[in-house]
Amino acid sequence: MSIDEATSAESPGAAAVTARQREMVERTLREWRGELEGRVAVVTGGARGIGRCMAEGLVRAGARVVAADRTWDGAEDFRKQLEADQGMAVEMDITDDAQLDAALAAVLDRFGTVDILINNAALVSETLFYPTGHRNTLDTTDDDWRVMFDVNVFGTLKVIRRFIRPMQEKKRGSIINVVSSGVLNVAAGGGYHGLRPWTVEMPYQATKAAVTALTFYLGEEVRGDGVAVNAIMPGHTRASWFDATARAFNDIGVVYFMRPAIAEHLLPITLFLSAQDGRGAAGRLYYVPEWNYDHGFGDYAAWQDHELPADMEEMYGRLEAAMPQYERAGVPHLPFDAQGALYTAAMANLGAQESWAGGSTQ
Ligand SMILES: NC(=O)c1ccc[n+]([C@@H]2O[C@H](COP(=O)([O-])OP(=O)(O)OC[C@H]3O[C@@H](n4cnc5c(N)ncnc54)[C@H](O)[C@@H]3O)[C@@H](O)[C@H]2O)c1
Repeated sequence: MSIDEATSAESPGAAAVTARQREMVERTLREWRGELEGRVAVVTGGARGIGRCMAEGLVRAGARVVAADRTWDGAEDFRKQLEADQGMAVEMDITDDAQLDAALAAVLDRFGTVDILINNAALVSETLFYPTGHRNTLDTTDDDWRVMFDVNVFGTLKVIRRFIRPMQEKKRGSIINVVSSGVLNVAAGGGYHGLRPWTVEMPYQATKAAVTALTFYLGEEVRGDGVAVNAIMPGHTRASWFDATARAFNDIGVVYFMRPAIAEHLLPITLFLSAQDGRGAAGRLYYVPEWNYDHGFGDYAAWQDHELPADMEEMYGRLEAAMPQYERAGVPHLPFDAQGALYTAAMANLGAQESWAGGSTQ
Protein backbone atom coordinates (compact mmCIF):
# COMPACT_ATOMS: atom_id res chain seq x y z
CA MET A 1 0.00 0.00 0.00
CA SER A 2 1.41 3.43 -0.86
CA ILE A 3 1.54 6.27 1.59
CA ASP A 4 -1.05 8.18 -0.44
CA GLU A 5 -3.41 5.25 -0.25
CA ALA A 6 -2.87 5.01 3.49
CA THR A 7 -3.71 8.65 4.13
CA SER A 8 -6.53 9.43 1.75
CA ALA A 9 -10.07 9.13 3.11
CA GLU A 10 -11.36 7.59 -0.13
CA SER A 11 -8.51 5.13 -0.52
CA PRO A 12 -8.74 1.41 0.14
CA GLY A 13 -5.94 1.92 2.71
CA ALA A 14 -8.02 4.29 4.83
CA ALA A 15 -11.08 2.05 4.45
CA ALA A 16 -9.05 -0.95 5.61
CA VAL A 17 -7.80 0.94 8.69
CA THR A 18 -11.36 1.90 9.57
CA ALA A 19 -12.62 -1.66 9.03
CA ARG A 20 -9.87 -3.02 11.28
CA GLN A 21 -10.81 -0.48 13.99
CA ARG A 22 -14.38 -1.82 13.94
CA GLU A 23 -13.09 -5.38 14.14
CA MET A 24 -10.88 -4.53 17.14
CA VAL A 25 -13.81 -2.89 18.94
CA GLU A 26 -15.98 -5.98 18.34
CA ARG A 27 -13.14 -8.21 19.56
CA THR A 28 -12.71 -6.37 22.84
CA LEU A 29 -16.50 -6.31 23.40
CA ARG A 30 -16.64 -10.09 22.88
CA GLU A 31 -13.72 -10.54 25.27
CA TRP A 32 -15.21 -8.62 28.19
CA ARG A 33 -18.98 -8.93 27.81
CA GLY A 34 -19.15 -11.93 30.13
CA GLU A 35 -17.33 -10.07 32.92
CA LEU A 36 -19.08 -6.75 32.55
CA GLU A 37 -22.67 -7.84 31.96
CA GLY A 38 -24.90 -6.16 34.55
CA ARG A 39 -22.13 -4.21 36.28
CA VAL A 40 -22.93 -0.61 37.21
CA ALA A 41 -20.52 1.86 35.64
CA VAL A 42 -20.39 5.61 36.30
CA VAL A 43 -18.56 7.75 33.73
CA THR A 44 -17.99 11.42 34.57
CA GLY A 45 -17.84 13.84 31.65
CA GLY A 46 -19.84 11.16 29.88
CA ALA A 47 -21.98 13.34 27.59
CA ARG A 48 -19.36 13.92 24.90
CA GLY A 49 -15.80 13.25 23.76
CA ILE A 50 -13.87 10.35 25.26
CA GLY A 51 -16.37 9.88 28.13
CA ARG A 52 -19.28 9.35 25.76
CA CYS A 53 -17.30 6.78 23.79
CA MET A 54 -16.43 4.92 27.01
CA ALA A 55 -20.06 5.02 28.15
CA GLU A 56 -21.25 3.67 24.79
CA GLY A 57 -18.63 0.92 24.87
CA LEU A 58 -19.66 -0.12 28.37
CA VAL A 59 -23.33 -0.23 27.30
CA ARG A 60 -22.38 -2.46 24.39
CA ALA A 61 -20.43 -4.68 26.81
CA GLY A 62 -23.63 -5.20 28.80
CA ALA A 63 -22.97 -2.82 31.71
CA ARG A 64 -25.63 -0.61 33.27
CA VAL A 65 -24.17 2.81 32.56
CA VAL A 66 -24.53 6.16 34.27
CA ALA A 67 -23.11 8.99 32.17
CA ALA A 68 -22.75 12.10 34.33
CA ASP A 69 -21.92 15.51 32.97
CA ARG A 70 -22.08 19.17 33.92
CA THR A 71 -24.16 19.82 30.81
CA TRP A 72 -26.05 17.76 28.22
CA ASP A 73 -26.44 20.68 25.80
CA GLY A 74 -25.91 19.38 22.30
CA ALA A 75 -25.86 15.78 23.53
CA GLU A 76 -29.63 15.24 23.69
CA ASP A 77 -29.57 12.42 21.13
CA PHE A 78 -27.05 10.46 23.16
CA ARG A 79 -29.06 11.09 26.32
CA LYS A 80 -32.17 9.61 24.66
CA GLN A 81 -30.22 6.65 23.33
CA LEU A 82 -28.64 5.94 26.72
CA GLU A 83 -32.00 6.07 28.47
CA ALA A 84 -33.48 3.76 25.81
CA ASP A 85 -30.58 1.38 26.59
CA GLN A 86 -31.66 1.30 30.28
CA GLY A 87 -28.81 3.65 31.26
CA MET A 88 -28.93 6.92 33.18
CA ALA A 89 -27.96 10.38 32.01
CA VAL A 90 -27.25 12.57 35.02
CA GLU A 91 -26.56 16.27 35.35
CA MET A 92 -23.66 16.39 37.77
CA ASP A 93 -21.02 19.07 38.06
CA ILE A 94 -18.14 17.34 39.84
CA THR A 95 -17.30 20.51 41.76
CA ASP A 96 -20.79 20.69 43.30
CA ASP A 97 -21.22 18.72 46.56
CA ALA A 98 -25.04 18.85 46.49
CA GLN A 99 -25.22 17.59 42.90
CA LEU A 100 -22.75 14.82 43.72
CA ASP A 101 -24.77 13.69 46.75
CA ALA A 102 -27.99 13.75 44.71
CA ALA A 103 -26.39 11.82 41.84
CA LEU A 104 -25.02 9.12 44.14
CA ALA A 105 -28.44 8.76 45.80
CA ALA A 106 -30.15 8.51 42.39
CA VAL A 107 -27.69 5.85 41.16
CA LEU A 108 -28.07 3.78 44.33
CA ASP A 109 -31.83 4.15 44.17
CA ARG A 110 -31.93 2.96 40.57
CA PHE A 111 -29.17 0.32 40.44
CA GLY A 112 -28.40 -0.40 44.11
CA THR A 113 -24.61 -0.24 43.77
CA VAL A 114 -21.59 1.05 41.85
CA ASP A 115 -18.98 -1.33 40.39
CA ILE A 116 -16.97 0.90 38.10
CA LEU A 117 -16.09 4.58 38.28
CA ILE A 118 -14.35 6.36 35.41
CA ASN A 119 -13.04 9.78 36.35
CA ASN A 120 -12.95 11.26 32.90
CA ALA A 121 -14.50 14.74 33.41
CA ALA A 122 -11.93 17.47 33.11
CA LEU A 123 -11.11 20.81 31.64
CA VAL A 124 -8.33 20.44 29.09
CA SER A 125 -6.10 23.29 27.92
CA GLU A 126 -8.18 23.62 24.77
CA THR A 127 -11.42 24.13 26.73
CA LEU A 128 -9.92 26.44 29.39
CA PHE A 129 -8.11 28.55 26.79
CA TYR A 130 -10.50 27.90 23.90
CA PRO A 131 -9.80 27.13 21.13
CA THR A 132 -6.02 26.78 20.76
CA GLY A 133 -5.27 25.88 24.37
CA HIS A 134 -1.93 27.63 24.46
CA ARG A 135 -0.80 29.93 27.22
CA ASN A 136 2.72 30.18 28.53
CA THR A 137 2.95 29.45 32.23
CA LEU A 138 3.86 33.01 33.22
CA ASP A 139 0.84 34.33 31.28
CA THR A 140 -1.61 32.16 33.27
CA THR A 141 -3.44 33.69 36.21
CA ASP A 142 -3.99 32.27 39.69
CA ASP A 143 -7.65 31.95 38.72
CA ASP A 144 -6.76 29.74 35.73
CA TRP A 145 -5.01 27.41 38.17
CA ARG A 146 -7.84 27.56 40.69
CA VAL A 147 -10.53 26.75 38.13
CA MET A 148 -8.59 23.86 36.71
CA PHE A 149 -7.60 22.38 40.06
CA ASP A 150 -11.22 22.75 41.26
CA VAL A 151 -12.48 20.55 38.42
CA ASN A 152 -9.64 18.17 37.60
CA VAL A 153 -8.26 17.52 41.08
CA PHE A 154 -10.75 18.50 43.80
CA GLY A 155 -13.73 17.50 41.64
CA THR A 156 -12.22 14.10 40.94
CA LEU A 157 -11.47 13.62 44.64
CA LYS A 158 -15.04 14.57 45.58
CA VAL A 159 -16.39 11.99 43.13
CA ILE A 160 -14.08 9.26 44.40
CA ARG A 161 -14.90 9.92 48.08
CA ARG A 162 -18.57 9.26 47.35
CA PHE A 163 -18.70 6.64 44.62
CA ILE A 164 -16.04 4.38 46.17
CA ARG A 165 -18.27 3.68 49.19
CA PRO A 166 -20.43 0.94 47.62
CA MET A 167 -17.27 -0.67 46.25
CA GLN A 168 -15.59 -0.75 49.65
CA GLU A 169 -18.74 -2.14 51.25
CA LYS A 170 -18.83 -5.13 48.92
CA LYS A 171 -15.03 -5.42 48.62
CA ARG A 172 -14.98 -5.14 44.87
CA GLY A 173 -14.70 -2.34 42.35
CA SER A 174 -12.64 -0.53 39.76
CA ILE A 175 -11.73 3.13 39.45
CA ILE A 176 -10.10 4.47 36.29
CA ASN A 177 -8.62 7.97 36.27
CA VAL A 178 -8.03 9.56 32.89
CA VAL A 179 -4.75 11.51 32.97
CA SER A 180 -2.27 12.52 30.24
CA SER A 181 1.13 11.48 28.93
CA GLY A 182 2.29 15.06 29.53
CA VAL A 183 2.84 14.11 33.19
CA LEU A 184 5.59 11.62 32.34
CA ASN A 185 9.23 11.94 33.27
CA VAL A 186 11.80 10.27 31.07
CA ALA A 187 15.24 9.14 32.20
CA ALA A 188 18.09 10.29 29.97
CA GLY A 189 21.52 9.53 31.35
CA GLY A 190 21.79 10.84 34.88
CA GLY A 191 18.63 12.95 35.07
CA TYR A 192 14.96 13.05 34.23
CA HIS A 193 13.22 15.40 31.87
CA GLY A 194 9.57 16.01 30.96
CA LEU A 195 8.27 13.83 28.12
CA ARG A 196 7.06 16.80 26.06
CA PRO A 197 7.14 20.15 27.88
CA TRP A 198 7.13 21.88 24.48
CA THR A 199 3.37 21.22 24.25
CA VAL A 200 2.71 24.29 26.50
CA GLU A 201 -0.02 22.97 28.84
CA MET A 202 -0.03 24.62 32.22
CA PRO A 203 -1.95 24.42 34.50
CA TYR A 204 -3.60 21.36 32.85
CA GLN A 205 -0.63 19.03 33.17
CA ALA A 206 -0.09 20.05 36.80
CA THR A 207 -3.62 18.84 37.56
CA LYS A 208 -3.05 15.56 35.71
CA ALA A 209 0.20 15.02 37.61
CA ALA A 210 -1.75 15.44 40.86
CA VAL A 211 -4.34 12.85 39.78
CA THR A 212 -1.56 10.48 38.72
CA ALA A 213 0.05 10.66 42.17
CA LEU A 214 -3.41 10.25 43.74
CA THR A 215 -3.86 7.07 41.68
CA PHE A 216 -0.69 5.47 43.05
CA TYR A 217 -1.22 6.43 46.69
CA LEU A 218 -4.97 5.84 46.90
CA GLY A 219 -4.54 2.67 44.85
CA GLU A 220 -2.23 1.24 47.49
CA GLU A 221 -4.58 2.29 50.30
CA VAL A 222 -7.73 0.67 48.93
CA ARG A 223 -6.55 -2.42 47.08
CA GLY A 224 -7.00 -4.30 50.36
CA ASP A 225 -10.67 -3.22 50.25
CA GLY A 226 -10.95 -4.97 46.89
CA VAL A 227 -10.87 -1.76 44.85
CA ALA A 228 -8.50 -1.32 41.90
CA VAL A 229 -7.44 2.25 41.14
CA ASN A 230 -5.62 2.76 37.86
CA ALA A 231 -4.84 5.64 35.52
CA ILE A 232 -4.72 5.78 31.75
CA MET A 233 -3.08 8.23 29.37
CA PRO A 234 -4.99 8.48 26.05
CA GLY A 235 -3.26 9.14 22.75
CA HIS A 236 -3.95 12.36 20.80
CA THR A 237 -7.72 11.90 20.50
CA ARG A 238 -10.45 13.61 18.47
CA ALA A 239 -12.70 14.71 21.34
CA SER A 240 -15.49 17.32 21.36
CA TRP A 241 -13.16 20.33 21.19
CA PHE A 242 -10.73 18.89 18.64
CA ASP A 243 -12.13 20.14 15.32
CA ALA A 244 -12.43 23.75 16.55
CA THR A 245 -8.85 23.63 17.82
CA ALA A 246 -7.47 22.12 14.60
CA ARG A 247 -9.34 24.73 12.54
CA ALA A 248 -8.12 27.62 14.72
CA PHE A 249 -4.52 26.46 14.23
CA ASN A 250 -5.12 26.01 10.51
CA ASP A 251 -6.25 29.63 10.33
CA ILE A 252 -2.75 30.67 11.43
CA GLY A 253 -1.04 28.26 9.04
CA VAL A 254 -0.34 25.49 11.55
CA VAL A 255 -1.41 21.86 11.41
CA TYR A 256 -2.48 20.75 14.89
CA PHE A 257 0.08 17.95 15.39
CA MET A 258 -0.55 14.47 13.95
CA ARG A 259 -3.81 13.02 12.63
CA PRO A 260 -5.82 12.22 15.80
CA ALA A 261 -6.96 8.81 17.00
CA ILE A 262 -10.64 7.94 17.30
CA ALA A 263 -11.82 7.75 20.93
CA GLU A 264 -12.50 4.02 20.47
CA HIS A 265 -8.76 3.38 20.87
CA LEU A 266 -9.52 3.67 24.60
CA LEU A 267 -12.12 0.90 24.64
CA PRO A 268 -9.90 -2.22 24.94
CA ILE A 269 -8.08 -0.93 28.04
CA THR A 270 -11.25 0.63 29.49
CA LEU A 271 -13.07 -2.70 29.40
CA PHE A 272 -10.02 -4.58 30.72
CA LEU A 273 -9.57 -2.22 33.67
CA SER A 274 -13.31 -2.04 34.34
CA ALA A 275 -13.23 -5.78 35.00
CA GLN A 276 -10.38 -5.49 37.55
CA ASP A 277 -10.64 -5.26 41.32
CA GLY A 278 -8.12 -5.06 44.16
CA ARG A 279 -6.93 -8.60 43.41
CA GLY A 280 -6.14 -7.79 39.78
CA ALA A 281 -4.25 -5.01 38.02
CA ALA A 282 -4.25 -2.09 40.45
CA GLY A 283 -2.21 1.01 41.16
CA ARG A 284 -0.92 1.17 37.59
CA LEU A 285 -0.50 3.92 35.02
CA TYR A 286 -0.87 2.92 31.36
CA TYR A 287 -0.15 4.79 28.11
CA VAL A 288 -3.03 3.59 25.95
CA PRO A 289 -1.30 3.38 22.52
CA GLU A 290 1.49 1.24 24.05
CA TRP A 291 -0.98 -0.96 25.94
CA ASN A 292 -2.93 -1.49 22.71
CA TYR A 293 0.26 -2.41 20.85
CA ASP A 294 1.29 -4.89 23.55
CA HIS A 295 -2.15 -6.52 23.63
CA GLY A 296 -2.76 -7.03 19.91
CA PHE A 297 -4.85 -3.91 19.36
CA GLY A 298 -2.52 -2.20 16.91
CA ASP A 299 -0.26 0.82 17.16
CA TYR A 300 -1.33 4.45 17.19
CA ALA A 301 -1.62 4.45 13.38
CA ALA A 302 -4.16 1.64 13.59
CA TRP A 303 -6.54 3.97 15.44
CA GLN A 304 -5.99 7.20 13.52
CA ASP A 305 -9.15 8.87 12.26
CA HIS A 306 -9.61 8.54 8.50
CA GLU A 307 -13.15 9.87 8.52
CA LEU A 308 -12.37 13.53 9.15
CA PRO A 309 -14.41 16.33 7.58
CA ALA A 310 -12.99 17.31 4.17
CA ASP A 311 -11.20 20.47 5.39
CA MET A 312 -9.43 18.55 8.17
CA GLU A 313 -8.63 15.67 5.84
CA GLU A 314 -6.91 18.25 3.67
CA MET A 315 -4.87 19.60 6.66
CA TYR A 316 -3.62 16.22 7.79
CA GLY A 317 -3.13 14.97 4.24
CA ARG A 318 -0.93 18.02 3.60
CA LEU A 319 1.11 17.36 6.75
CA GLU A 320 1.54 13.67 5.96
CA ALA A 321 2.62 14.42 2.39
CA ALA A 322 5.28 16.83 3.71
CA MET A 323 6.64 14.42 6.31
CA PRO A 324 10.08 12.92 5.61
CA GLN A 325 9.45 9.77 3.58
CA TYR A 326 11.52 7.21 5.45
CA GLU A 327 9.95 7.66 8.85
CA ARG A 328 6.40 8.23 7.75
CA ALA A 329 5.11 4.70 8.19
CA GLY A 330 6.52 4.46 11.71
CA VAL A 331 5.72 7.98 12.86
CA PRO A 332 2.73 7.26 15.05
CA HIS A 333 4.63 4.67 17.02
CA LEU A 334 7.76 6.74 17.63
CA PRO A 335 8.62 8.32 20.98
CA PHE A 336 7.31 11.82 21.41
CA ASP A 337 10.62 13.60 20.75
CA ALA A 338 11.05 11.76 17.45
CA GLN A 339 7.44 12.42 16.47
CA GLY A 340 7.93 16.07 17.38
CA ALA A 341 11.08 16.32 15.25
CA LEU A 342 9.35 14.79 12.23
CA TYR A 343 6.31 16.98 12.70
CA THR A 344 8.56 20.04 12.88
CA ALA A 345 10.40 18.92 9.72
CA ALA A 346 7.09 18.47 7.90
CA MET A 347 5.92 21.94 8.97
CA ALA A 348 9.25 23.38 7.76
CA ASN A 349 8.74 21.59 4.42
CA LEU A 350 5.35 23.31 4.22
CA GLY A 351 7.15 26.64 4.69
CA ALA A 352 5.39 27.41 7.98
CA GLN A 353 6.91 30.02 10.28
CA GLU A 354 5.22 28.58 13.36
CA SER A 355 4.51 25.04 14.54
CA TRP A 356 1.92 23.66 16.92
CA ALA A 357 4.01 24.12 20.06
CA GLY A 358 4.28 27.82 19.25
CA GLY A 359 7.97 27.70 18.36
CA SER A 360 9.63 28.53 15.07
CA THR A 361 9.96 25.65 12.64
CA GLN A 362 13.04 27.17 10.98
N1 LIG B 1 -8.56 14.22 23.84
C1 LIG B 1 -7.29 13.98 24.13
O1 LIG B 1 -6.41 13.95 23.23
C2 LIG B 1 -6.89 13.69 25.55
C3 LIG B 1 -5.54 13.37 25.79
C4 LIG B 1 -5.15 13.10 27.10
C5 LIG B 1 -6.09 13.12 28.12
N2 LIG B 1 -7.39 13.43 27.86
C6 LIG B 1 -8.35 13.41 28.98
O2 LIG B 1 -9.52 12.76 28.55
C7 LIG B 1 -10.62 13.19 29.37
C8 LIG B 1 -11.79 13.59 28.48
O3 LIG B 1 -11.43 14.73 27.73
P1 LIG B 1 -11.91 14.99 26.23
O4 LIG B 1 -10.70 15.25 25.43
O5 LIG B 1 -12.89 13.97 25.84
O6 LIG B 1 -12.60 16.43 26.42
P2 LIG B 1 -14.12 16.89 26.23
O7 LIG B 1 -14.10 18.33 26.55
O8 LIG B 1 -14.62 16.45 24.90
O9 LIG B 1 -14.90 16.07 27.35
C9 LIG B 1 -14.81 16.44 28.70
C10 LIG B 1 -16.18 16.30 29.33
O10 LIG B 1 -16.08 16.63 30.72
C11 LIG B 1 -17.19 17.45 31.04
N3 LIG B 1 -16.90 18.29 32.19
C12 LIG B 1 -16.04 19.35 32.25
N4 LIG B 1 -16.10 19.91 33.47
C13 LIG B 1 -16.98 19.19 34.20
C14 LIG B 1 -17.48 19.28 35.53
N5 LIG B 1 -17.09 20.27 36.35
N6 LIG B 1 -18.37 18.36 35.94
C15 LIG B 1 -18.81 17.38 35.11
N7 LIG B 1 -18.39 17.27 33.84
C16 LIG B 1 -17.49 18.16 33.39
C17 LIG B 1 -17.45 18.26 29.79
O11 LIG B 1 -18.77 18.80 29.78
C18 LIG B 1 -17.22 17.23 28.70
O12 LIG B 1 -18.40 16.52 28.40
C19 LIG B 1 -10.09 14.33 30.22
O13 LIG B 1 -9.77 13.84 31.50
C20 LIG B 1 -8.82 14.74 29.49
O14 LIG B 1 -7.90 15.33 30.36
C21 LIG B 1 -7.81 13.74 26.59
